[in-house]
Amino acid sequence: PYTLVLAGSGASADVPAGGSMLVALRALGAKVEASCEGGICGACKLRWLEGVPVHRDRVLTPQERESHLMACVAGCASDRLVVEA
Ligand code: FES
Repeated sequence: PYTLVLAGSGASADVPAGGSMLVALRALGAKVEASCEGGICGACKLRWLEGVPVHRDRVLTPQERESHLMACVAGCASDRLVVEA
């Protein structure tokens, strides 16, 4: 479980263990593109700013993971994750 925070508005939502970041983003009213929802198409790419994302996608390079995540499959290993959405 962790708290997802939108950098722009400061809005936040609690994401339960095993919960979907995409669902939480939509609940917050963030407009995030999504297609495959399986970490392979690249549509749901977001920039992250703070926290420790857990990457489960198959599209981002190690370098891209330092600044971006794929919201449909990413998890979080910290209490709080701040994303630009
Ligand atoms: Fe395809 Fe996230 S929706 S990678």
